[in-house]
Amino acid sequence: MTVQHKPQAARAVQVPAPMAMLAELTHRCPLSCPYCSNPVELTRKEAELPTEAWLDAFRQAADLGVLQVHLSGGEPAARRDLTELIAGARDAGLYVNLITSAIGVTRKRLEAFDAAGLDHIQLSLQGTNPEMADMIGGYRGGYERKMQAAAWIKELGIPLTLNTVLHRKNLHQLPRAIDMAVEMGARRIEVAIVQFHGWALRSRAALMPTLEQAEEASRVVAEARKRLKGVLVLDYVPADYHTATPKRCMGGWGMTGLNIAPDGQVLPCHAAQTIPHLTFDRITERPLRDIWYDGAAFNAYRGDDWMQEPCRSCDLKTKDFGGCRCQAMALAGDAAATDPTCAKSPLNAAVRAQAAEDQQGDGALVYRAFEDATKVPFGTG
Ligand code: FES
Repeated sequence: MTVQHKPQAARAVQVPAPMAMLAELTHRCPLSCPYCSNPVELTRKEAELPTEAWLDAFRQAADLGVLQVHLSGGEPAARRDLTELIAGARDAGLYVNLITSAIGVTRKRLEAFDAAGLDHIQLSLQGTNPEMADMIGGYRGGYERKMQAAAWIKELGIPLTLNTVLHRKNLHQLPRAIDMAVEMGARRIEVAIVQFHGWALRSRAALMPTLEQAEEASRVVAEARKRLKGVLVLDYVPADYHTATPKRCMGGWGMTGLNIAPDGQVLPCHAAQTIPHLTFDRITERPLRDIWYDGAAFNAYRGDDWMQEPCRSCDLKTKDFGGCRCQAMALAGDAAATDPTCAKSPLNAAVRAQAAEDQQGDGALVYRAFEDATKVPFGTG
């Protein structure tokens, strides 16, 4: 189905200040995870925002009311100015979280991040043993380096969350991943079943969890939440192709947070560039406050004027906002459609049938890479 929906002009919706900003500092990364949600067309180093532009973005974000900045990528540590960026975000008054694979992060750099005021680290885990982790990350020796970094983070006392992305190939490792989070001294673990955006969509047939795996993951998380109460917080993103209700994506389009892409485009969510009729302002060309309140892309799906049936008359429309706009684009060909992972969507049966078919195939992994498939050497930024 390829129904196109054009965003309408801004309308009277009460828009709060954003709470969080995802700063995608770079798309360069030593890993090549097939589950990556980065866009298929990655931004090259030459197009990345320079240090001063990021520092200005942090100041503008804090002024707008943003409380937390998540430094992400790609691998943010691929930027040599990362310590300066952490210090600048902290000086702006932001809570600074670093989302990293920790590959190439030395103890000396971690100490510098800590001294610069880093508040928190989210460490990605691709698997609970070298075989799985290195196969998924496409980087031999990555697991050992990550474990070393986890030990340093613990020694330095930097608050830690372990981020796991789980899929058909590694979901059986979930119980061990939870144990590892406790052993690492993490306060939280994010158990995210793969979401099919960007690169992940290309490997859907290889990554799609079975229904049994999706149900088992929910059971394991529920049991661990009881057992580890007061020890570890579990954040859980279930497998949405297998649930009856769609995800409350981004807490509503343009309502709680914003992303800045490596080249300075300001996005309502990390996958918004997959919606072809949207255009995005750049932080270097328009004040962030204007972009947030008046930007065309941010106003495209605020409120509910844009909704079609069955969302329009649904009791849940103010709770789940009709699900994910990017998923509606990917699966229905219309970003204003009901997210087809919702049981009320006319496409839901087809989505479930597709998921069932995906589970059967052996499906080769498509590793994330720049267009020419040349891996960018780590730490050259
Ligand atoms: Fe874009 Fe869900 S990822 S709205």
